[in-house]
Amino acid sequence: MLGTVPSDLETSFREKFAQSAKLFERGQALFPSGVTHDGRYLEPFPVYVTEAHGSRKVSVEGHSIIDYWVGHGSLLLGHGHPTVVEAVQKQMARGTHYSACHELELEWGERVQRMVPSAERVRFTNSGTEATLMAVRVARIVTGRQKVVKFVGHFHGWHDLLVPAAYAPYTPHDWSMPGITEGTLSDLVVIPPNDLAVVEETFRQQQPAVCIIEGTGGHWGLVPVCGEFLKGLRELCTRHGVLLVFDEVISGFRVHPGGSQGHYGITPDMTTLAKILAGGLPGGALVGRADLLDAIAFGNRHGKKMKHPGTYNGNPLSAAAGCAALDAIADGTACRRATDLAKELRRRLNELFVQRNAPVVAYGEFSMIHVLPNYSGPRPTGDDFIPHDGDYRMLDAEQPASLKHAFRCALLLGGVDWFGWSGMTSVAHTEADLDQTVQAFDQAILLLD
Ligand SMILES: Cc1ncc(COP(=O)(O)O)c(C=O)c1O
Repeated sequence: MLGTVPSDLETSFREKFAQSAKLFERGQALFPSGVTHDGRYLEPFPVYVTEAHGSRKVSVEGHSIIDYWVGHGSLLLGHGHPTVVEAVQKQMARGTHYSACHELELEWGERVQRMVPSAERVRFTNSGTEATLMAVRVARIVTGRQKVVKFVGHFHGWHDLLVPAAYAPYTPHDWSMPGITEGTLSDLVVIPPNDLAVVEETFRQQQPAVCIIEGTGGHWGLVPVCGEFLKGLRELCTRHGVLLVFDEVISGFRVHPGGSQGHYGITPDMTTLAKILAGGLPGGALVGRADLLDAIAFGNRHGKKMKHPGTYNGNPLSAAAGCAALDAIADGTACRRATDLAKELRRRLNELFVQRNAPVVAYGEFSMIHVLPNYSGPRPTGDDFIPHDGDYRMLDAEQPASLKHAFRCALLLGGVDWFGWSGMTSVAHTEADLDQTVQAFDQAILLLD
């Protein structure tokens, strides 16, 4: 059932993606809600994909779909970038896991060290979630403090401490979530984004160990970082002895080869990385000041070692893919190309929305595009436009699930896979992709009237 979704849309969707519907029946007998990632759940069913190349993936029915999920943000270079494929194939033949140190992990880590300003030391993990978990534990060991500050609507993975307050609707003062204990919640302090006065007051009262922030604002810039906020936050952290962590799992290597810290020239104490870091294979890292990452070292100066095993840390295949991807990104051309494409798409979408008098606006920074439904405010006059003056309660309000599903289905019918209300570009997207995307939106926005 699609709820309020027009039945003709559902009928067309079922006709076009009939084999996916069949596969989803198998999925439902196997996985909760039939899927292996919450974001891939779609009503009436998700589209199943068999292969992907460049900017496009191919559904099991053989339909070519322009991909704006791009490996959940990990594929800045697009699907199957030749140097990444070659590096992984070569490594595959040499071994996938040595249970040993290997030269490729050095090559990978040294690239990160060269590119990311805060990366004096590097420790590889398997995912972004593990990296943010590690950042908090390291911060506690080093500072001897316990509390953690995060911002409403900032996503740092799904572990117990940082997943609260990551998803709308937001109910200030009640960040409880199923399965997360009161004890864990009592260590977390959640504050609104972009308000330095609140940050300062919170630091004074709570004496936290660490403050973590998405480098380009909550949900990769759905609520952008406004004005001089990052600079002010850096200063406040230093003044109050609070460690500053930039979560650059998405923004790292995407907005700039050095991430948002490279772009803004602000160096956090530690940084969490994943996604592009490993060239589309699983992998993550905590990087940061040598004296802080020393908390993971044997016999360290803190007299307390953080235990850190992990079967796939520094995995050779991820290292091979990561080295090849970082080499292709290092000179900044890829970041700029993806940013230019996204900027052009934002411009063209806004042109369309005005032409059609549609209650929707496109905005965003770098290679990230957000589309806000139920919008009736002023129209953008430039690419730096932020709707609702950046108010997170408006930008990150919960939208009706049925509308979200219908919108995605409508875009898929037009050959476009869009990540909910947001999308990202890669270097592989083309002008022709943008043309088709605007056409697909022209149909999908009929649902928003
Ligand atoms: C900013 C941010 N931090 C952390 C994570 C978690 O990373 P992973 O999915 O690799 O665990 C994500 C995932 O999308 C993210 O966007």
